Amino acid sequence: MNTLSILLDAFPRPVSGERIASANGLSRSAVWKQIQALQKLGLKIEGKQNSGYRLLEWPDLLLPEMIEHYRSGQLGHPVYWHDVLASTNTTAKDLARQGAKHGTLIVSETQTAGRGRRGRTWVSPPSEGIFASLILRPEVPTRRVPLLTLATGIALVAALQSFGLHEAWLKWPNDVWVGRRKLAGVLSEFSGELDRVDFVVIGMGINMHQAEFPSEIDHTATSFFRETGQRTNRAQVLARTLGELEKILPLLEQADTAPLFTAWQKHDRLVGQEVNVIETTGTYTGKALGLSESGALRVALPDGTEKLVLAGDVSIRPHTDS
Ligand code: BTN
Repeated sequence: MNTLSILLDAFPRPVSGERIASANGLSRSAVWKQIQALQKLGLKIEGKQNSGYRLLEWPDLLLPEMIEHYRSGQLGHPVYWHDVLASTNTTAKDLARQGAKHGTLIVSETQTAGRGRRGRTWVSPPSEGIFASLILRPEVPTRRVPLLTLATGIALVAALQSFGLHEAWLKWPNDVWVGRRKLAGVLSEFSGELDRVDFVVIGMGINMHQAEFPSEIDHTATSFFRETGQRTNRAQVLARTLGELEKILPLLEQADTAPLFTAWQKHDRLVGQEVNVIETTGTYTGKALGLSESGALRVALPDGTEKLVLAGDVSIRPHTDS
């Protein structure tokens, strides 16, 4: 166990330098160096000759020890933390190609080229949001990957609701919205063959502390802070999301998709609504009916036929009186 984990576990009690040193196989002066490095990151640690080191306060960073402190299951191990990355998804794909194991998590305090679905950018201001990518190596055929993305959306909504954001809902396929504003999104990228998945990278972007957004998205984006007035600890939210995902993942390995779809329905608000669909091939309107076996959205067109939306943008059509 490393120094920060020991201090977090002992919080608010002090731990002797000697205990930390022997737990880590370090010298007392090496422990002191680590304490100084943590203080530089903004952690308040008091050192007293007779009682040892005591953690007083810690900043809202996504440091591995902090995520591990709140984490309950296996996902999110190991965690690679970065101050800045171009995109956590890009780094995660590189690591996955090099053999990183199932459950590996890459987090960054900020991204310089954060990517969204359909070629959009994901605005990633330093320490304001959660920018994380999880590497999974699921034992499922490739056609089930969209269900994995769906499962991540369910996990995200469940985690956010558990922190008091009861109004969060899941806009197919995996956007989290509050009312008519987007709060979080998922970008999954995978590598494999038809019958076998090598890895899936699940990139999660959650707007947490932002009070405002760039003007182009300010009217369509929201954050946890905007909705609740609270600056909830990001590591705790991320750890809870991983825990929720871990609970849902076994549903994917079952041949029967009904339990997963039931979980999805609990958070969906599209079914039964008139929707606009924007796909690369064109735009159309219809009525959202539900999910197909593969996780696509079934939409009834005005001419009575049915279309399956695989990767489009779907929005609820505003009601008109005419
Ligand atoms: C979307 O709704 O369009 C998906 C947004 C996904 C953003 C996250 S932030 C962490 C990860 N790294 C990226 O470059 N994108 C995803």
